[in-house]
Amino acid sequence: MKKKFRTDILKINEKRPNHVIISKASKLICSGEIIAFPTETVYGLGANALDPSAVSKIFEIKGRPSDNPLIIHIADMKTLRTLVSQIPPRANRIIKKFWPGPVTLVLKKSKIVPKITTGGLSTVAVRMPRNNVALALIRKSGLPIAAPSANISGRPSPTTATHVKDDLDGKIKLILDGGSTEIGIESTVIDMTQSTPMILRPGGISKESIENEIGKVLFQNSHIGIDRKKIKIYRSPGMKYRHYSPKAHVMLVEGPENDAKSKIMQLAEKLEAEGKKVSIMSASKSLKVNSEKIQYMGRSLETIARNLFANLRQADKNNIDVIIVQGIQYNKIGFAIMNRLKKAAITNIRV
Ligand code: TXA
Ligand code: MG
Repeated sequence: MKKKFRTDILKINEKRPNHVIISKASKLICSGEIIAFPTETVYGLGANALDPSAVSKIFEIKGRPSDNPLIIHIADMKTLRTLVSQIPPRANRIIKKFWPGPVTLVLKKSKIVPKITTGGLSTVAVRMPRNNVALALIRKSGLPIAAPSANISGRPSPTTATHVKDDLDGKIKLILDGGSTEIGIESTVIDMTQSTPMILRPGGISKESIENEIGKVLFQNSHIGIDRKKIKIYRSPGMKYRHYSPKAHVMLVEGPENDAKSKIMQLAEKLEAEGKKVSIMSASKSLKVNSEKIQYMGRSLETIARNLFANLRQADKNNIDVIIVQGIQYNKIGFAIMNRLKKAAITNIRV
């Protein structure tokens, strides 16, 4: 797609969003345009969820397959009731506890939601973001806003306005720059239409936290790639596509700490001998290699999540050929982090 527009980036304070900027952005949404805005998870590429021609521009701009449905963002419960045909009691409990916040509910859709928004499905994914810019934009436009992550399909999700510009410069008119996003990975998507709710995409709220509220929920192994090749039926259409990939070749190394570390050092040496530029992403500070090569991922899961996509994108800026990532523990939001890494990785090594 060629450059069509001059892309304006407007800085906006997340704590007290400027009214003039919000008005300008909401006018674009109301006139069927597409804009990028921050949420607490990642930046979204938003359009009026109820306008099929506006929504079709999102698919075109991202190069997104048409069977991959979008999440609709709302700012109040009244709007939720217009989008869905029913709200089961357990969905209400999740809403009370986690909204606004990084959990998306899949519910039966109402008639007003166009099929293009839901990728042809009879269900719809909805969430209320915990970001004042996003909420002000939704309120001011008076519309539910469909928004996938604001990256070109297949690339790491954007957590800053610069990431959005790197992917979409000239393709959209406006990016609202609310700074770095708080959580850094996308929302947890949970299907509430089944007798036992099922996590379709792990994300910013862990399975443990959701189970504390509503009891048992299901979780597919495919989320962490264990049986990705074997699974033929994808409940969440988005999960079958390659995702989150920088230009560099990502190698993921998993296993006991010491074994993983020696494997990583051995790999780095071999690749460099072949003339490759290597970067190592690790949450461990004790890797015995040239520190320039190491991208320290952070100590807490929250920090690792917040910097994950930015680290992958930074490697491309540094012209890295191969990123070797040391896997982390599959607990709490470690699941969501490993899900993203598994999908970004071309090679996955277990030691
Ligand atoms: O945090 C987030 O969720 C971000 C911000 C912008 O809100 N949005 C986001 O959207 O990650 P996207 O389009 O990149 O991912 C949406 C995911 C996809 O995996 C999609 O297949 C799934 O949600 N999804 C959407 N509607 C669905 C539905 N009706 N049934 C099952 N899965 C659905
Ligand atoms: Mg996405």
